Amino acid sequence: MFSLDHLCVYVLITAYDFDDFIWSTATASYQIEGGWRADGKGLSIWDKFAHTPLRVFNDDNGDIACNSYNKVDEDVAILKQLKVTHYRFSISWPRVLPDGTTKHINEAGLNYYHRLVDALLAANIQPHITLYHWDLPQVLQDIGGWENETIIVKFKDYADLIFSRLGNKVKFWITINEPYNIANVGHGYGAAAPGIFRPGTLPYIVGHNLLKAHAEAWHLYNDTYRAKQKGIISITINSDWSEPRNPNKQEDIDAARRVVQFYIGWFAHPVFNGDYSNMMKTIIQERSLAAGLLKSRLPEFTPEEIKRVQGTYDYFGFNHYTTVLAFPVKYGNLQGAGTIADRTWLDSGSSWLKVSPFGFRRILNFIKAEYGNPPIIITENGMSERGPTDLNDIHRSYYYEKYINQVLKGIKPQLNLESYLLDNVDIRGYTAWSLMDNLEWATGFSERFGLFYVNHSDPKLPRVAKTSVTLYSTIINCNGFPD
Ligand code: NOJ
Repeated sequence: MFSLDHLCVYVLITAYDFDDFIWSTATASYQIEGGWRADGKGLSIWDKFAHTPLRVFNDDNGDIACNSYNKVDEDVAILKQLKVTHYRFSISWPRVLPDGTTKHINEAGLNYYHRLVDALLAANIQPHITLYHWDLPQVLQDIGGWENETIIVKFKDYADLIFSRLGNKVKFWITINEPYNIANVGHGYGAAAPGIFRPGTLPYIVGHNLLKAHAEAWHLYNDTYRAKQKGIISITINSDWSEPRNPNKQEDIDAARRVVQFYIGWFAHPVFNGDYSNMMKTIIQERSLAAGLLKSRLPEFTPEEIKRVQGTYDYFGFNHYTTVLAFPVKYGNLQGAGTIADRTWLDSGSSWLKVSPFGFRRILNFIKAEYGNPPIIITENGMSERGPTDLNDIHRSYYYEKYINQVLKGIKPQLNLESYLLDNVDIRGYTAWSLMDNLEWATGFSERFGLFYVNHSDPKLPRVAKTSVTLYSTIINCNGFPD
């Protein structure tokens, strides 16, 4: 078993807007709720995608998932057991707005979120709500979804409804989860809903509309709700850390920089620094012209739009799992870089996720340096397993121990002045993905990220603690590792 004895990191966070460090865990609506047709819910793009044969591993779907729609009390009970201060979950847009617009509000669906929020607050757990975690109403997809810029107003109206109904009880908000994956996976190579394979221009159009929709929701909150509701709101951006495959080769060093600039910078640069980075603009322009197009595939923001998007954050919401080693490739993915993993890094249950904790501290330092030292809330981090379930999940426990230790090192002022790491990163919270085993998108139930085990062949879907629950709740209890 892992041992905590040799670790002696204690961290006390000085508060500015937050009273204390956030120790949280997360889920998303489609991955856990089930109740896909309950009480007037509309269909989402994930309902359609998962019901299309061969799209999801084993043809799994979220029709029932973890049945969280009917298990508010059980879910809150396991959150209490974990001792988290916050719980991050998402709202299913078609559950509250079956037609996608505010013309028809499904009060029964909204009531589920009221019950959940009330139960969380009664347990002294702060809700941290994601407005969009990938389950777009299918009716909106039918008119173009994120490709059609009318989505911006529809997202703003949906956000308005949620702020007005839940905002007096909820202080922590995320507009959109992982725009990179929505744009690139959902609309580039089509491995996630809506499953569109159009890797050329479409991801950039989708990304552009996502940024504008996020900005409108942020401004709405800032201008109309913040004074009364006193919450904070941001976007959650995901990124791997990227190192050169060969640190002595300039082209590998350049490739590693490109990976990070395309991954995190695509969305973080407009929100934190204003506009797309020059690196992205130049590379996409060159590649577009080389492909025979007359102009860049990357849409342009007007000067007014740059101003409207820049600064639309209260914290840097950040999802991180792994590190890659980069090298240049001429064709292929967006950033002209191939990536591999170091063969010594331990595997997880997901092909893309190798255990590489050192990269976490590096990318946190990168965010600090690149985006003006924003307060950071880590909104996801965790590890999957596959194959037979062992409740003694030593690999996940090892992962959490090592990754959380990197976070805590990142918070502390750097003592070794020779190090190129700056540290003293303004990290305000950590969120473990995920509270329980759930539907891992296109890989179905085969990849399990949960702290709690859910046996999907038992109709009662009981939640059973794995060993990592003991580890994580101990860390939370000590606000760091115990002596
Ligand atoms: C990213 C997503 O936000 C979440 O839904 C997913 O399950 C995890 N990371 C793991 O892949």
